[in-house]
Amino acid sequence: MALREIKHFERDKILRKKSRPVDEVNERIHNLLDDMAETMYHVGGVGLAAPQVGVLRRVVIIDIGEGLLELINPEVVEVNGEQIADEGCLSVPGWTGQVKRPANVTVTGLDREGNRIKITGNDLLARAICHEVDHLDGVLYIDKVEPDTLMRLEEKTD
Ligand code: NI
Repeated sequence: MALREIKHFERDKILRKKSRPVDEVNERIHNLLDDMAETMYHVGGVGLAAPQVGVLRRVVIIDIGEGLLELINPEVVEVNGEQIADEGCLSVPGWTGQVKRPANVTVTGLDREGNRIKITGNDLLARAICHEVDHLDGVLYIDKVEPDTLMRLEEKTD
C-alpha cells in the first residue's frame, strides 16, 4: 500500500472530468482501493473518490466511523427526504460549507470481489455517498453549497 497525492481543486483539472466505469475488478483496482483507504485514513477523511488521487475510474471509499465501505461503479438508485449540513472535501482543504442533500440514499455497485451490492445510508452516510458519487462526474460540493455558507475552517471556531 502507498499514500497517494490528493488532487487540489485549484490546481488539478482532473477533478472536473468524468470517470469511466470499471470493467474488471482486478488487482489494479484492489491496489487502488488499498491506497485510497491508506490515504483517506492518513488525513482523517470520511470519504475519497478515485479522481481525487488522479485516477478517472468510478471507485469510491467511505468510512463515517462505522467501517470501510468500498464501492465500484456506484449508482444512486433512490433518494428520499432532505438534509442541510456542513460539508468539506479533501480536495478543497481548509474550507467548509452547507450543502443540501437527500436524507436517505440507496446506492448499488460492486464490492472488491465484484459482487453486486446495494446499500441504503441515512444522514452522514447518505451525504458521503452523494458527495463521493458527485466526484465521479467532476462535481464538487462547492458547486452546490448554500449561498453565503462557504467559509474558512479557522473562521468557524466558536
Ligand atoms: Ni470530496
